[in-house]
Amino acid sequence: MESINALRKSALRRLRSIKHKEELRSFEVEFLGRKKGKLTAVLRRLGSLPHRERMSIGQEANTLRLELLEEINKKKNIFAEHAMQEILSKEAVDITFPPPKRPRGHLHPLTHIRLEAEEIFSSMGFSVIPGGPEVETEYYNFDALNIPSDHPARDLWDTFWISSRSSKVIDQKRKARGRSAFRVPTSKVLLRTHTSSVQVRHMESHQPPIRIIASGKTFRYEATDAKHDTEFIQLECLFVDKNVSVAHLKHTLSAFFQKMFSPKVAIRLRPSYFPFVEPGFEVDMRTAEGEWLEMLGAGMVHQQVLKNAGYIPGHWKGFAFGVGLDRIAMMKYKIPDVRLFRCGDVRFLRQF
Ligand code: DAH
Repeated sequence: MESINALRKSALRRLRSIKHKEELRSFEVEFLGRKKGKLTAVLRRLGSLPHRERMSIGQEANTLRLELLEEINKKKNIFAEHAMQEILSKEAVDITFPPPKRPRGHLHPLTHIRLEAEEIFSSMGFSVIPGGPEVETEYYNFDALNIPSDHPARDLWDTFWISSRSSKVIDQKRKARGRSAFRVPTSKVLLRTHTSSVQVRHMESHQPPIRIIASGKTFRYEATDAKHDTEFIQLECLFVDKNVSVAHLKHTLSAFFQKMFSPKVAIRLRPSYFPFVEPGFEVDMRTAEGEWLEMLGAGMVHQQVLKNAGYIPGHWKGFAFGVGLDRIAMMKYKIPDVRLFRCGDVRFLRQF
C-alpha cells in the first residue's frame, strides 16, 4: 500500500512538470507500460498476496491506473490544442491583406478608339465584320471599286505593290488549297491602300440589306510627316438597302461624331470625288471649339460598284464612308505626331 502511495506521489509530481508530448509518452511507458511499467509491476505482484490484501491493494492500484490515464489524457488534449493553435497562427491567411501588385499590360490607344467606334456603330445597328485581308488583290482594292488601271484616279493612292513573283506564289498557293484563283486570273497583289476593299468582297457573299463596318490596317507608299504615316487604321462603313439617301449618310456620321467627341460637334459635306461613289463628299467636323476639320471621305455607292458585286443594276442604293482612326485618336488624345503611335516607345504608350 505504501509503495502505491509513493508511486502516486512521484507520478503526479512528474506529470505536473511535463511540457512535451514526447515526455508524456515516456511517462506513460514508465508507469503504465506493459512490460516494465512501475504500476504494472505492482499489479503483477498482486497474485502473490493473501486474498484480503489482494482485494484492497488491487482496487487501490487500479484507481491509480485510471487516475493516471485520465491525467495523461487531459495533458494530451492540452498539447493537441496548443499544436492546433500554433498551426493556425503560423499558417493563417489574412484575406483582407492587399495582394502584391503585378505588372499589367493595357490596350494600345488606337485599339481603344477602334473598340469605341465599333461600340458606337453596333449601338446604331451595324454589324462589325472582320476587317478583310491586308495583303489584297488589285481587283478588290481598285478595279471592283470602279478604278481601272488606266484611270488617273489611281494616282490618288500611293501603293505598295507586292512583287509579281510573290503574287504568283500566292495565286499558286490558293489553287493548291483548292480555292479558285483570284477573280482576275493574273491578279497583282498589293498592301491595301484603304478598307474600301472590303466592300465588294462582302457584297459578293451577302444580299442587302447591308449595314456593316470593318476596320483594319491600311498602307500608303509615301513619305511620312506629322500627319501621315505609311501605315494607318481605317474604318469602313457600308449601308445598302432600298430608298437610301444622303440624309441617312449625314445622320449616321453626325451621330457617330457626337458620340465619339461631344454632342456639340457638327458636320458638313463638301462635294468631292472618289470613283466608287456618286455623289462623293469630303466630310468636315466642327469641333466644340468652333474649328472645321476635314475628317473623311464618303458618298452614295456608285451603281457600277453594286453591279461589280453582282447585284441587279438599279435595284439597290447605298452609302459608304471610310474614316482614319489615327486621325480621331490624335484629336481625342491631343497627339501632335501620328508617328508616335507606331514608334514602339513605351514611355508614350504608358500614358494611356
Ligand atoms: N477609301 C477612301 C480613302 O481611303 C475613303 C473613302 C471615300 C471611303 C469615300 C468610302 C467612300 O467608303 O465612300 O481615301
